[in-house]
Amino acid sequence: MGNEPVFAIEQNTEVLIDNAAITAKVAEMARQIEADFEGESVLLVGILKGSIHFLSDLARHLRLDSQLDFLQASSYHGARETTGLVQIRKDLDINIAGLNVILVEDIVDTGTTVNHLRELLLTRKPKTLRIAALLSKPDAHRVDAQVDYVGFEIPNEFVVGYGLDYGERYRNLPYIAILRNQDDNSQPELFAG
Ligand code: IMP
Ligand code: MG
Repeated sequence: MGNEPVFAIEQNTEVLIDNAAITAKVAEMARQIEADFEGESVLLVGILKGSIHFLSDLARHLRLDSQLDFLQASSYHGARETTGLVQIRKDLDINIAGLNVILVEDIVDTGTTVNHLRELLLTRKPKTLRIAALLSKPDAHRVDAQVDYVGFEIPNEFVVGYGLDYGERYRNLPYIAILRNQDDNSQPELFAG
């Protein structure tokens, strides 16, 4: 898929990770997961909405018996800032007791969301619980976030595309880009993933 700006919204973006690099990385992450869970079944839990493309690509690369489920968490924040309050807006459909669960997240920023979800899901007694994140911003971590599979470590910049949004836009871009020239006058609001 092309990385050339074709839509008007792309005038504000600067490609950080192109689609080919994402595809190669997701395949590599799938090989790691297959090696760790050889002969077993896994439940991939996509954290809505940002993980949709990553989950979809990862699931199709994974040569393991697998199930899919979704969870939606929300944190109070402005368009770019997280406050540390995490709520569950949509819970899992599947009972995870005894299952190999892999939480699939778009990005680990402060680490608050994945840490909260890890604590919550561990109370439900899965057999194993791992976290896969396409992106991680090590310089933004405020809590010690244990992420088992990380695609790319990126600088502490606000990024969009491949599922990641700014005010619900840009999720459809097939690449990860740094967002430029945005006025951020937004008031704190309830956003989800
Ligand atoms: P955390 O709880 O601070 O780790 O952030 C978790 C959520 O904030 C992610 O799942 C994203 O939805 C959102 N987020 C954090 N950084 C970015 C970014 O650079 N671009 C878009 N969304 C982001
Ligand atoms: Mg978001």
